[in-house]
Amino acid sequence: MSTAPASTPAADPPASTQTVGMGEVLPHVRPPAELPRPPVVEFRKVTKTYNEGQANAFTAIRDVNFVVEDLHDKGELICTLGPSGCGKSTILRLIAGLGPQYPATFGDVLVLGQPVGAAGPDRGMVFQDYTSFDHRTVLDNVTFGLECQGVPRRQRYLLGRHWIDRVGLNVGTDENKFPHELSGGMRQRVAIARTLILRPRIILMDEPFGALDPMTRMNMQDLLLELWHEVEATVFFITHSIEEAVFLGDRIYIMSNSPGTILKEMRIGQSDRPSKEMQKEPRFQETVYYIRDVISQLEESRRAGT
Ligand SMILES: Nc1ncnc2c1ncn2[C@@H]1O[C@H](COP(=O)(O)OP(=O)(O)O)[C@@H](O)[C@H]1O
Ligand SMILES: [Mg+2]
Repeated sequence: MSTAPASTPAADPPASTQTVGMGEVLPHVRPPAELPRPPVVEFRKVTKTYNEGQANAFTAIRDVNFVVEDLHDKGELICTLGPSGCGKSTILRLIAGLGPQYPATFGDVLVLGQPVGAAGPDRGMVFQDYTSFDHRTVLDNVTFGLECQGVPRRQRYLLGRHWIDRVGLNVGTDENKFPHELSGGMRQRVAIARTLILRPRIILMDEPFGALDPMTRMNMQDLLLELWHEVEATVFFITHSIEEAVFLGDRIYIMSNSPGTILKEMRIGQSDRPSKEMQKEPRFQETVYYIRDVISQLEESRRAGT
């Protein structure tokens, strides 16, 4: 959990960073480096070509390098922004170890210093689509992972009810509901509880709030920040929304068009107030406008074919 004062970016090498509102643009994307502990996630010249060797081969990401440090007992919330189709989900699913994105065509994906393996409980995932099991109640959805691990029913229901409460659902009235009886926001609360109950070191979120209405989305952003400070994990969060990235992120990666690479890395000051309030602040807006300009220049260069 971070102890940095509100809205002050965490300490990194100073060099020639550019300040934009509550963010700082680093002079370059930090390369994999010698660190005291293995990084949580490291990409070394990672390329992914779908249908390699066939007529329809397509390179989605090329030579992607980045490093997410292991900030002890704290973790970082990293948001990745970029145009549609630039390879954001490809990167996320490579970390998760989910095919057909996994394995990479070239390069190394390391998690805690080890080449990444197929999906495991150390990496929790929350998708945009509601992925609960239709025939299971909220309580049985939330405790599914524990059931797979063989945790006895009494113990898993105890923990399950704790997490149902923590994500803002009502233990008494909601635990026996089935997914079709829940709103989109409630279903994503279930998905978050189901992930956090397993205490993963890395939480991978692929546009989890993309299908929610604006008010529900802001409430979910507030909830995520609150819970994340508790679980001290590294969160990798993909979004189309610049506001969402600036509100949630400690760090933002901005990706180029396909084949995607990471074009810019920014450090962002912590949000110290609810999403609705933060979005009104000039320093917040300045950061959003800066990123919007970077992304619209990308779109223009793509249209111009440069
Ligand atoms: N299984 C696949 N086979 C072929 N092409 C794919 C596959 N998955 C994704 N792609 C292509 O790779 C590119 C990057 O996809 P993706 O990582 O899903 O982008 P994003 O999440 O940024 O929208 C897209 O052009 C997409 O069409
Ligand atoms: Mg995607």
